[in-house]
Amino acid sequence: MWGQPRRGPWTSLLFAALLATSGQAGAADSKAFVEGECAQCHTLEKPAEFTVERMLNREAPDLYYAGNKFRREWLVEWLQEPKRIRPAGTYFGQNVVMGDERDIVPDDKLEPHPAYSAEEAEKAAEYLMTLRPYDDLIAEASYQEKPVSGMMGKMNFGKFKGCDACHQPTPGTGGLSGPEVHTAFARATPEFLFSFIKNPQAWEPRTFMPNPGLNDGEVNKLVNYLRFLSEE
Ligand code: HEC
Ligand code: HEC
Repeated sequence: MWGQPRRGPWTSLLFAALLATSGQAGAADSKAFVEGECAQCHTLEKPAEFTVERMLNREAPDLYYAGNKFRREWLVEWLQEPKRIRPAGTYFGQNVVMGDERDIVPDDKLEPHPAYSAEEAEKAAEYLMTLRPYDDLIAEASYQEKPVSGMMGKMNFGKFKGCDACHQPTPGTGGLSGPEVHTAFARATPEFLFSFIKNPQAWEPRTFMPNPGLNDGEVNKLVNYLRFLSEE
């Protein structure tokens, strides 16, 4: 046990200063790790120009707004045991080939994501969470948690809104060109999902996802359906 604390004001100041510098050293360390390791494939700074070429040629999804998108605990877990998110890779045009029934992605086309130790994953998450150029977009998102019917949600996501042309609402169903969405709610915050669905071009002017032109209520329904899928 600590017993009676007998530290005077100077000792606590010194203690606080020590804590602060060790925090700074940790932050510099996690930045260096991410810049050395992850920047080989990922963009960590907001691009000066958004071009179609960039979208066709980028090696990996952007991380420069990671702090506005991801749940920290998901990052830490996924980096240790990464599972594929985009069934056809970062840009589907590089990997999809036409099959008889539906388009397919040949198994040998996609490399598995590198896996990291728990310590490295914590470090990476610490730095990624500081990358927040779109705090304004997140502040505008008005997500409200509401119960949804799975059956109606599925029909809405598919037949009515056509989202399943590009996304997999459940493993093995739906389109291959976008990220799978049954894991989206576990990966990203509801505010990000709301904002991205409402206006994908505000996040990436050249994204292949069309702006669905929905009002807040409709967007909220879709985000709640993604929540439902993540709880299944
Ligand atoms: C060899 C290239 C490469 C390296 C190195 C790499 N990644 Fe990735 N990363 C990818 C690719 C490709 C994807 C897309 C995978 C998918 O969608 O299944 C990806 C996906 C991700 C995602 C999910 C992004 C999203 O929007 O869905 C995160 C988070 C991520 N990487 C973090 C990291 C971090 C942190 C590091 C360094 C510690 C790192 N990656 C190192 C290639 C790489
Ligand atoms: C024409 C294909 C297409 C359609 C249709 C489409 N999306 Fe997307 N969507 C994408 C692509 C591609 C991305 C990846 C964004 C990027 O990397 O630019 C994406 C990203 C997303 C994301 C972010 C997921 C993540 O992990 O980053 C969500 C959520 C999403 N879409 C939901 C929807 C919903 C809801 C609809 C229907 C209203 C829809 N999408 C319709 C192609 C599409």
